[in-house]
Formats: sequence, C-alpha cells, structure tokens
Amino acid sequence: MEYKLGIIGYGGMGSWHHKNSVKVPGLRVTSAFDIDQQRLKIAAENGLKTYDNVDEFLKNGDFSIVLVATPNNFHKYYSVMAMDAKKHVVCEKPVAMNLAELDDMIAASKKNNVLFTVHQNRRWDKDYKTVKKVLSDNLIGKPYTIESRVHGQNGVMHGWRAYQVAGGGMLFDWGVHLIDQMLYMVNEKVTEVYCQLFSIKTPEVDDYFKLILRFESGLSAQIEVGTYCLEKMPRWYVNADQGSVLVKNWECEGNVTRASQIVMEWEPEIVQTVGGPTRTMAPRPKETLEEIDLPKVQSEWAEYYMNIIAYLNGKEDIIVKQEELRRVMQVIEAAFESDKSHQSIKCLI
Ligand SMILES: NC(=O)c1ccc[n+]([C@@H]2O[C@H](COP(=O)([O-])OP(=O)(O)OC[C@H]3O[C@@H](n4cnc5c(N)ncnc54)[C@H](O)[C@@H]3O)[C@@H](O)[C@H]2O)c1
Repeated sequence: MEYKLGIIGYGGMGSWHHKNSVKVPGLRVTSAFDIDQQRLKIAAENGLKTYDNVDEFLKNGDFSIVLVATPNNFHKYYSVMAMDAKKHVVCEKPVAMNLAELDDMIAASKKNNVLFTVHQNRRWDKDYKTVKKVLSDNLIGKPYTIESRVHGQNGVMHGWRAYQVAGGGMLFDWGVHLIDQMLYMVNEKVTEVYCQLFSIKTPEVDDYFKLILRFESGLSAQIEVGTYCLEKMPRWYVNADQGSVLVKNWECEGNVTRASQIVMEWEPEIVQTVGGPTRTMAPRPKETLEEIDLPKVQSEWAEYYMNIIAYLNGKEDIIVKQEELRRVMQVIEAAFESDKSHQSIKCLI
C-alpha cells in the first residue's frame, strides 16, 4: 500500500525529506504547507500541491502522514493539530521545547489512535552503528567510558537556531541526537546528569556544551558539542576493560585495540620514557596488544521511513518509541537544571 505524506515547513529539512523520500518504496510526498511564499514556490516547482493555510492543508490535502519540519517552537502546535485531524505524525527533532509539551503530543496520538514518532535519523549513522556493534559484539569487554563528540569550526548558528524562543542552541540541536544515540546504545538507566553550557559566539543560546551521564553500572558517557572548535577531536572514543575503540570521523576511520594479555606484570625498574621516568605510563609491549579493523556496517537513512511504512502495514514495531523520546527529553531538562545550579542532578531516567 502506498502512503502519502504532507510536509509542514518546507525549509532546509522539509525539502531534504522530500528529496530523500524517493528512496522509500511505498511513500510519496504530495503536499506542503509553509508561511513563506518563497518556500511554497520552490515546493510547487518540485511538484507538490502547496497550501498557505494549515486548516485547508489538513482538511483537503491528499495524505495520511504529516511531517512537521518547522522551527522547534512550533512542533507541538502543528503535531497536535495534525493528529486531531487523524493524521499520523512524524516530527523533526528536538521533538518539543520540554517534557510537558511532549506529553501533550503523546496524549494526542493516543486520543486519536495515530502514530506519533520523531525523526531521530542519527540512529542510522554509520559511525554510531559501528561503535554500537563493537560493544554489542563484545569486542572490547565492558565499557567504562564512552566519549561522543561533534565539533564544528564556523562559530555560526543558522537563523532561528540562535534564539531561545525558537528552541535554539546546541543541546536541543545536536545534543538531542547524541543523547538519543547514547541512551539507545547503553541499556541502563541514567543515575546522574552533569552539564556545562557555554555561549561563545551566540549570546542567547548555548553554542558549546559538555554533558556527562552516569549510568547505573557506573559507566560514564561524555557528550560534547561545539560550534567553534578549530582543532578536532575524534567522533568516538571508548575505553573498556579489555580494549579501546577510536572512530575518528564520519568516514569511520579508526580502529579497535584489544589486550591479548589482560593482566600485566609490574616492571621491576622505573622506565625512562619520552615523557620522563614512569612505570604506569610506559608504552605497553606490542606483543600484548592486538589491533583489529572496525567492523563494517551497512546503513541508510531511508531505513527510518521504511520502518514507518512497515509499522503502518502491521509488519514491524516502530523503532523510535515515545517512551524513548521521553527519556531523552528528561535528560535534556536535567542538563539545563545542572547548568543552572552548577550541580550534578541525581536521577533515575
Ligand atoms: N534530523 C536532522 O538531521 C535535522 C537536520 C536539520 C534540521 N532538523 C530539524 O528540522 C526542523 C527545521 O529545521 P530547518 O533547518 O529545515 O529550518 P529552516 O529554517 O530551513 O526551515 C523551516 C521552515 O519552516 C517554515 N516555518 C517557520 N515558521 C513556520 C510556521 N509558524 N508555520 C509554518 N511554517 C513555518 C519556514 O518558512 C521554513 O520554510 C527543526 O526542528 C530542526 O531541528 C533536523
């Protein structure tokens, strides 16, 4: 069965969804609503039926799924309106401005018995799936720290992203992706949240943040996003009790290093190293280490929509679930609270 989709907010991401929809069998974008005539003109040139009135769009539009791709502060308004019009809704991330808004959206989906899910497309990123596979295949044992970083160099936040009222800032923009990835990879509750937000080049919102999550087992996850970091750090760095993994970039360069000999003998004498005399930090004998390639993973962002179509056809469970969205939003709220109070927040999320 073919499912038709109408887009609210035909901007950068709305038009990206349209372009990529051709890769999804059983999905066709038919219509767009926007408040900007220029964007509607582009949508019409791209073959869509366009609307500048949302009521008319929802009443007469030929589609059963709505994608909400406006600035963040309008997500709840349009999502609830579309669900009340009995449409399934796919909302862009971050799903909402806070947990209370998200709960209203979830309530609307239950009341109207329609799908409500969010475009957490970075669960299909290759770098992420690579790290997830290293851990789930138990290649390096039990992790004790996971570091996930995304660094930009431009020091610029585009358009509405620079303003609080629109739900701007990096914690909402990239943080929501990286927190979602982490919670979906570590199958444990978060017991502590510590966060520091900075406004380096963008006065009103955070354009750099450092977030530390502690999980039930003691595992520590650090998420760092910056927009003005001129030297780059690796995308992923994980230490576990039998090895480490480094994924340097989106191209998935890096490697896994495993210890072939877990317990090391003490050096009887202090070792003279380039860094001075030390036994603890002396280089490890090469024969006790094993370097292996990162596993190869296949992944396509189109799989996100394929899952939605399979769900609507009763063939698969939905991957991005409402209770997972709630957990991410709870972590974000705790992160804002931590930054404000300069304290870590104890929790069970
Ligand atoms: N999942 C991802 O990888 C990803 C990437 C980029 C953006 N996004 C998300 O997509 C959403 C849109 O971001 P963008 O980069 O496309 O922004 P954008 O500014 O390029 O586009 C937003 C569009 O919404 C329209 N709009 C603004 N206010 C509106 C209103 N009140 N009613 C109807 N239309 C309105 C604008 O005219 C514009 O066409 C955001 O929530 C953002 O976080 C997600």
